[in-house]
Amino acid sequence: MCKEILIAGYSNSGNTNHIARVIQSITGGKILEIFPAQPYPRDEQIMLKQVESEIKSKKYPALLPVCSCYIKYCKYLFAGTPNWCGTIAPPLASFLKNYSFTQKTIIPFVSHDGGNAGTVREDIQKICPHAEVTEPICVYKDGGDTLDEQIKDFLKHIGWEIK
Ligand SMILES: Cc1cc2nc3c(=O)[nH]c(=O)nc-3n(C[C@H](O)[C@H](O)[C@H](O)COP(=O)(O)O)c2cc1C
Repeated sequence: MCKEILIAGYSNSGNTNHIARVIQSITGGKILEIFPAQPYPRDEQIMLKQVESEIKSKKYPALLPVCSCYIKYCKYLFAGTPNWCGTIAPPLASFLKNYSFTQKTIIPFVSHDGGNAGTVREDIQKICPHAEVTEPICVYKDGGDTLDEQIKDFLKHIGWEIK
């Protein structure tokens, strides 16, 4: 396992988690899954209202505790989120606000349903002004059969040596 690489993400219906696991298989990084302390309501309309309110007010949810030692020592953070209302899901916003990512490189990865990565890169950069935030890995739903190839191509594009 590569200790410099942390793959932290929030996923509501599993797609972002799937992408995280493929990133792990390529990079050897450590996976850290983010959970809100209070799960979102099951009713889609009620959930959407809550999400919209959290995004608008920037009052992000409390999270279940995570092991912060991995965060402190990583150099590269793959930060995963579904595209929610064109931006990052509030639990990832909480995570990024709770810890310092100064001088680290953040590589966002986004699962979407047609809206691509929205303003994810800019929104992460606002929360983490002292990190270098790359363009996002943008994946439609779970990426299908070519996900491994999509991620390898992206990493080569940003200058990583990938077999
Ligand atoms: C509250 C909510 C808002 C969403 N907003 C968008 C959106 O603005 N654009 C988009 O392309 N997909 C949107 N989606 C769809 C998700 O981004 C998509 O289903 C994604 O693959 C889910 O990833 P997950 O399985 O990791 O949760 C939204 C889904 C939810 C639940």
